[in-house]
Amino acid sequence: MGNVVIFGNQKGGVGKSTLAVLYAWWLADVRRQSVCLIDLDTQGNSSKSLRRSSAIAEAAELFGQDVGPMVPSRGKTIALAPGSKKLADVELAKAEVVIPAFRRNVMRLAQDFDAVVIDTPPALGLRMSAALMSGNAVACPIELEAYSIDGVAHMLRAIFGVRRRYNPQLRLAAIVLNRFNPHSLRQKAAMQELALNFREFVIPARISTRSALPEALAAGVPVWRLPKSSAREASLEVMRVFELLQQRIDGSSEPVPADAQP
Ligand SMILES: Nc1ncnc2c1ncn2[C@@H]1O[C@H](COP(=O)(O)OP(=O)(O)O)[C@@H](O)[C@H]1O
Ligand SMILES: [Mg+2]
Repeated sequence: MGNVVIFGNQKGGVGKSTLAVLYAWWLADVRRQSVCLIDLDTQGNSSKSLRRSSAIAEAAELFGQDVGPMVPSRGKTIALAPGSKKLADVELAKAEVVIPAFRRNVMRLAQDFDAVVIDTPPALGLRMSAALMSGNAVACPIELEAYSIDGVAHMLRAIFGVRRRYNPQLRLAAIVLNRFNPHSLRQKAAMQELALNFREFVIPARISTRSALPEALAAGVPVWRLPKSSAREASLEVMRVFELLQQRIDGSSEPVPADAQP
């Protein structure tokens, strides 16, 4: 079974879509894996960045009938279940009907693909619950700000709730620091609070604010394939974060030493 990795944080604008797409590209392009990305956001941001991918079914359809077996390809092509406005209706549907259907479809996809990546909407609603009940690892991107710690606490509570009651495989693989600014005093203070409460989840690498990232996503190419010198630093940061994230997902990472400053 392939890993099912959820990019989740009920806060918007923290980098879920950006990192979900880059991670899917990284698995496919660098790790040569077959990858399927499910975009659960009505905005369809990650679907736009992956517009060159082949669509398997609309993400909203995964909450209904069963998808058939897939023949995935390895390398650069990613299979996409694009997000659309129809996902808003899913939120109003009967949870006991649509969540098991989604779960069945994700399990089917995890049999066929090396990895399934799920981009989630900025809310702890039905789609987020469906994702958490169907996945095995959560990557929680955050931007260090005054209320970002509250967001992580909510997310953790949701993860632990789902794990206890429905999905014992689920775990928070990593909190990923995005748009990191080492010169910001506000971020420094938030970092201390984060380390105090959630140190074991924070991976010791971070992604700064880099214009190459939105540029690459707008162009629909991985940042490491963007022919610009500014893309190099961004690529190094992103790849380092994904290597550490992958180690944690695969369970091969050492616990973070108590004195390691993420
Ligand atoms: N590290 C970064 N550097 C520069 N811009 C970023 C970075 N991470 C995200 N962004 C930008 O911030 C905005 C929000 O990111 P997005 O991935 O859409 O967040 P979310 O999916 O959590 O709402 C987007 O315009 C994206 O291009
Ligand atoms: Mg998004």
